[in-house]
Amino acid sequence: MFNELAEKRRSVKVYAERPVEPAKIDAIVEAALRSPSGRATRPWEFVVVTDKILLEKLSVAKPEGAAFVKDAPAAVVVCGDPAASALWVEDCTIAAVTMQYAANALGLGSRWAQIKGNNFKEGTTSTQYIAQLLGLPENLNVQCMIAVGYPGEGMVPYKKDELRFDKVSYNRYGQKKA
Ligand SMILES: Cc1cc2nc3c(=O)[nH]c(=O)nc-3n(C[C@H](O)[C@H](O)[C@H](O)COP(=O)(O)O)c2cc1C
Repeated sequence: MFNELAEKRRSVKVYAERPVEPAKIDAIVEAALRSPSGRATRPWEFVVVTDKILLEKLSVAKPEGAAFVKDAPAAVVVCGDPAASALWVEDCTIAAVTMQYAANALGLGSRWAQIKGNNFKEGTTSTQYIAQLLGLPENLNVQCMIAVGYPGEGMVPYKKDELRFDKVSYNRYGQKKA
């Protein structure tokens, strides 16, 4: 049941020193390739990185907030082609989140590292740094990286009373459930 999966989902920053089975990586990527995209343009491309040195280099693609990538056994770099679709950001986002739930379904954890809008250092965007590192073609932008691995920390589910049901209206804004 999807809702049971959603109930348990949390982001994982600490990963166990256990490799992820290649078949699980394949299943995660396949789930992304099945994700919906505007007009079915599928403007995304994915680079699966398992090379330790590359993971370390990816973890410094921005000054803060991506360090966990170096300790993950794998990361998927989610790229999009703005020339292929004006909705490339939405489509990449949906594919990225699909991979996160697919990872959870396989007993793995994951965490998003935002790349779009970040700089590696002054004068170099994080996308430019990653493009150079991975040899991306010029048409691709990098939206994010999804680190994947067996969790090395607890994934404490949100309790139902922590959820922001106050943000939900029915029929008219501000109207609560009868
Ligand atoms: C669009 C987006 C960007 C994110 N960027 C980062 C990031 O750059 N670094 C990071 O450590 N976590 C990042 N995260 C993970 C969030 O910090 C995490 O989802 C949030 O703290 C809630 O925790 P939870 O996923 O366990 O519910 C991002 C998540 C989303 C959806």
